[in-house]
Amino acid sequence: MAAIDKSLYERVGGKATLARVHQTLYNKIYSHPWMKLYFEQKPQHVLENQQTDFMTMLMGGPNQYAGKTPKFAHQHIVITNELFELRQQLLAESLTEENIPTTLKQEWLAADETFRRALVKNSIQDCEVAYANQEILNFKPPRAYTQSD
Ligand code: HEM
Repeated sequence: MAAIDKSLYERVGGKATLARVHQTLYNKIYSHPWMKLYFEQKPQHVLENQQTDFMTMLMGGPNQYAGKTPKFAHQHIVITNELFELRQQLLAESLTEENIPTTLKQEWLAADETFRRALVKNSIQDCEVAYANQEILNFKPPRAYTQSD
């Protein structure tokens, strides 16, 4: 098969590459002072595996993803453009650290960018909960805690 016909999944190196990049990404997410607040109740390895299965499907690999749609999985989280862009920055850094070639890195980031519209919210009023006592996740960026000090 000519290289041009191969899926992005194959071209980046398949499941091993996705797992490696997502381990690096979630190491950054789980140690970032603002980002980590959204993940306090969630084991890191579960998120890494869900992200890998989801991106495998999205990039044209085997479909093993059994989770929620991104819109539904994030409907209780106030994801602002600033937070979305912070995650993209951490993803871009992870792709560079894991030696993903520039053109593939751009394609990977473009695939990720397609979720902005489904995930980004203007305010807490745009959130929904799946069950009565589901917590709405809404944390100020760290500088908001220090600006008035
Ligand atoms: C700033 C942006 C984001 C934040 C703060 C965030 C946060 C979270 C959190 C807290 C969960 C756990 C939800 C739960 O189990 O209740 C989650 C799940 C998930 N996220 Fe994100 N996320 C972000 C962006 C993205 C993007 C861009 C994608 C896809 C490219 C994505 C894909 C997923 C997937 C596949 C799951 C698992 C869904 C499931 O439970 O089945 N996330 N995210």
